[in-house]
Amino acid sequence: MDPLEAIVDEARRAFDAAADAAALENAKARFLGKAGALTAQLKSLAALAADARRERGAAVNAAKAAIESALAARRAAIDDARLARELAADALDVTLPGRGADRGGVHPLTRTLDRVETLFRSMGFAVAQGPEIEDDFHNFTALNTPANHPARSMHDTFYVEGGALLRTHTSPVQVRYMETHAPPIRIIAPGRVFRVDSDATHSPMFHQVEGLWIDRDVTFADLKGVITEFLRRFFERDDLAVRFRPSFFPFTEPSAEIDMSFGDGWLEIAGSGQVHPNVLRAVGIDPEAWQGFAFGMGPDRLAMLRYGIDDLRIFYENDLRFLAQFR
Ligand code: FA5
Ligand code: MG
Repeated sequence: MDPLEAIVDEARRAFDAAADAAALENAKARFLGKAGALTAQLKSLAALAADARRERGAAVNAAKAAIESALAARRAAIDDARLARELAADALDVTLPGRGADRGGVHPLTRTLDRVETLFRSMGFAVAQGPEIEDDFHNFTALNTPANHPARSMHDTFYVEGGALLRTHTSPVQVRYMETHAPPIRIIAPGRVFRVDSDATHSPMFHQVEGLWIDRDVTFADLKGVITEFLRRFFERDDLAVRFRPSFFPFTEPSAEIDMSFGDGWLEIAGSGQVHPNVLRAVGIDPEAWQGFAFGMGPDRLAMLRYGIDDLRIFYENDLRFLAQFR
């Protein structure tokens, strides 16, 4: 074979084997560079006689043109492949399904609390807060329940080291509010409370919404009116079966517990009564000049009734199959 043909052949194979632009430049140098195989052929022309040189020169030039065109073709192919790769990497497949960002929802108890708050605000009640870790004075003593009072055993209290306790009800917020605000007072105080308690209608951590209305002449009739109107709006019904059952709390007199029809029987939803004069005196309010009512409602139980749930502990299990039904 003519060495020129062999060189052109070899150049084509080398160019085809070059995977990228850099490898192609290296291959080019082996044939067309200063020390390249074809360059050597050109240099060898100088040694030939004029006639032979002309003839051989034309053949070498043809070989050079063939190598250059193979080089250009390979260069274009490598460029095309790179472009195709880049386009594929940037491609956005708009038909792919989304990444499964599920929409969450407000927890049914949070919804209930929001709803209770909205309704009481619309009836002129402001919203107050108090601490979940309480002292004995605010949870009991100031509520007319001194040490060794038998009513303390109604609350199965969680005690914290150092004598503090987890509040067993929201009633201490009444005391804290009256310590810092003069009457007239019309507040609710929603929040978490804690008791050593667990069954279908009792959770060890649950919520209460305290209510307190103190003015010159707020009576037990106002208590019944406010509670009845609230429940009617909360459940969006006028024919509710509600009963006020005589009861006892050291901090109210008279006292009543409030029940709603539930299954075959009744479910207690709140304790309530006229604020005891001793409670007013303990915070420096004159019980001859001011009076009113208080209540402590269980919104977890309201949620049970509203959503038809027979065990309130399910609200605290965070089972998504349950919670997803409230989205
Ligand atoms: C009290 O806690 C009084 N502080 C209520 C009160 C306030 C009376 C102001 C007078 C004046 P009682 O222990 O009954 O009362 O609880 C009130 C309500 O909280 C109950 O009617 C019930 O709806 C709810 N409740 C009580 N214990 C639990 C529990 N373990 N889990 C869920 N809800 C509960
Ligand atoms: Mg009770």
